[in-house]
Amino acid sequence: MWEAFLAILTLPLATGAAPEQLCKYDDVLQYLNISSEKAPALHTIPKENWEEPLKVEVQFILMSILSVTEKLQTVTVYFLVTMKWKNVFVTWNPQDFCNISNLVLPVDTFWSPYIIIYEKVDEEKSLSRPFLSITHNGIVSKTQQQQVTITCSLEMHQFPFDTQTCNMSISSFMNSETDIILLSSQTTEEANKQSQLYHLTNGEWKFMNINIIQHTESLEEEEFAVITYEISMKRRPILYVLNLIFPTCALYLLDMTILFSASSFGDKISFQLSLIIGESVLALILKDILPTSSDDPPIIECLCPNDYGCIGDLPINAAEEETPPPIPQGYETAEMPRAR
Ligand SMILES: *[C@@H]1O[C@H](CO)[C@@H](O)[C@H](O)[C@H]1NC(C)=O
Ligand SMILES: *[C@@H]1O[C@H](CO)[C@@H](O)[C@H](O)[C@H]1NC(C)=O
Ligand SMILES: *[C@@H]1O[C@H](CO)[C@@H](O)[C@H](O)[C@H]1NC(C)=O
Repeated sequence: MWEAFLAILTLPLATGAAPEQLCKYDDVLQYLNISSEKAPALHTIPKENWEEPLKVEVQFILMSILSVTEKLQTVTVYFLVTMKWKNVFVTWNPQDFCNISNLVLPVDTFWSPYIIIYEKVDEEKSLSRPFLSITHNGIVSKTQQQQVTITCSLEMHQFPFDTQTCNMSISSFMNSETDIILLSSQTTEEANKQSQLYHLTNGEWKFMNINIIQHTESLEEEEFAVITYEISMKRRPILYVLNLIFPTCALYLLDMTILFSASSFGDKISFQLSLIIGESVLALILKDILPTSSDDPPIIECLCPNDYGCIGDLPINAAEEETPPPIPQGYETAEMPRAR
């Protein structure tokens, strides 16, 4: 019943006006022979001439810096990569097909370049769209959204006022440079502009800029095209200033005040003990943040042992003397030689 109704509906359309005009996407596919045996270069690189490498244009947009793990020296980023190349075997005249000038097809309909990221350390977390877009003149484009964790040598010396630079290198490792050349379709300025425009997050790390370096890497006598994206980012230190530096300074001041105050020895000991506990808590926070093996430790970590030394001074010096001396005097004997 339903089928009959449909047939009646479609009959006048099928036999109606302009019977020569083919107006279905399927007609384009049939013209291209995709489903037949004679399918055009489905699984091989679409090169007419064996000797000429295929140019693949790459566009990179950094969407977000998701996290930076100082301890593991890794950075997790989220980005978009769009690759464009020409498939000379897939062209049609749009005028033959009611001006259909582009198609969206499943990603495995045609060959597409496989790229890897050198610095990647976690398993694949590709959110790539499973489609390709093809225009009538054979330009194929593929967009991949990816969340990757990359290793990055983080410089912690200026923590928390640090700026980090991480490299992310994209390469087509399955095909050497005689097969594929990766080209950046953007200039550094464009990449910066687009990444600034699309940047989603506004977290601890502020995206500064991207630098694009195109080079070749040789491995086992084969050359591979590589595009390296140097991503610079700056930490927003306000949280650390409030949570770490400000309390440390406050404790330091408190420490000094107690040192110079005229309270009794016992009182001072108990004050200092609570200060030590406060310092320990801060040290624990710091320990969780900072990488364990850092040749160049943060300056802030160097401040803390000093602080401990200062706190430690008073009870030891005071205990050496029979009666606690007036504080300025005690301070002079204990601290001044170092100051001079
Ligand atoms: C599809 O196959 C036919 C028959 O072999 C051929 O004439 C035609 O050129 C092919 N189309 C394309 C786009 O290659
Ligand atoms: C296709 O585009 C051309 C030029 O823009 C136009 O003249 C023609 O009518 C269009 N054909 C259809 C079927 O829309
Ligand atoms: C990133 O790669 C470039 C080119 O290979 C290199 O000059 C630079 O030192 C690297 N930067 C980092 C932070 O590793």
